[in-house]
Order: sequence, then C-alpha cells, then structure tokens
Amino acid sequence: MTEAFPGGAIEEARAIIARYPAGRERSALMPLLYLAQSIEGYVSREALRAIAALLQITTAEVEAVASFYTMYRLHPTGTHVIGVCTNLACKLRGAVAVLEAAREATGVGSSGHGVSPDGAFTVHEEECLGVCDHAPAVQINVANHDEVTPERMRELVERLRAGEVPTPARGPAFASFREACRALAGLEPAPPTPGGGA
Ligand code: FES
Repeated sequence: MTEAFPGGAIEEARAIIARYPAGRERSALMPLLYLAQSIEGYVSREALRAIAALLQITTAEVEAVASFYTMYRLHPTGTHVIGVCTNLACKLRGAVAVLEAAREATGVGSSGHGVSPDGAFTVHEEECLGVCDHAPAVQINVANHDEVTPERMRELVERLRAGEVPTPARGPAFASFREACRALAGLEPAPPTPGGGA
C-alpha cells in the first residue's frame, strides 16, 4: 500500500475516503484513482491493489472502473497527456491528420502505449469529448481545445515543450497531467480559468 501511496499520500487517501458516509466508502474509488495517477502518472497494478485494500473491495472491481474510463491511464504516461478525439464528427473534420501531427510533433509512436523519447508526452485516441460542434477536439492534460488543425496541434506541442501552458477553450489549464489529476482528486483547487470564464 505504501508503494502506491507513499509518505503523506496515504493520509490524503484516507481523507478522501472520509468524505463519504460510513458504508459508502467505495464512492471514493474514482478520486482515489486520480490520486494514484497524480503520484505515478498512471494507475499501476500496485495502485489497483492498494485502492482495493483501502476500500475493502476486490482488485477486479477497482480495475473494472479504471479500465472503463479513458481518463484513467493504465500504462506509464509522459508529463503531458494529449487525447485526440477520433470519433465520427472529429474524424469527418480531419482528426486523423491531427492525430498524426500530434504523434509526429511529440515523437510518440503510433502503436502501443508509448511515451515520447524525452518523457514529455503521451498521445492517445479519445472517444467523443462531447464538443462535436467544435470538431476536431483535443484534450491536453484534461483541458479541451476546439477546432484543432494539424498546424495548431504542432504549435500546441511546441508551446508545451517550451514550458508554456496553452489556454484551453474553456475551464482551467493544467501544467501537467499529474497536476490535473491532483485537482480532479479534489486535493488542490483548480488553477484560475484564463479570462475568468467558467
Ligand atoms: S466526435 Fe469528437 S467531440 Fe464528439
């Protein structure tokens, strides 16, 4: 357990569980998955087992949730996780070229769960991100970017490589995937939304 939640992280895990009423502890499953992901950059086998032990449920039950939602990554990730929607609306508007641009600009290969050679990026295909009217859509560290062209994709990668945090279409931007996961676990306030919008 301590390997997945080292140091003070185990106390944070217990604090997350304490948000829920007695008998409803398993409701803490998703934020605990985010907590694990904020530490290792993905949900490791060890984290699956540790969460199961904390919630007194089976590892299979934890894995069923972790493997269902694409926001949980089950393989090591780079600093920045880029998800390119390749569902119908986005594909019709050029998502395949955007995906290729992301893979080329980051150096991530087109197969497996690869991380770019510099450890900075993971690129994966996403299902519908719910903003089909702004296709093709891309998520960077869980923040949405609308109407992304291949040129815009390459520019976004270069800005991330330079240490910038590109402003998303809406909501807060995160400097890394791990930072985003920590906010999603409810442990840090999300950074201010650029422009003060929702
Ligand atoms: S199909 Fe891409 S956002 Fe819906």
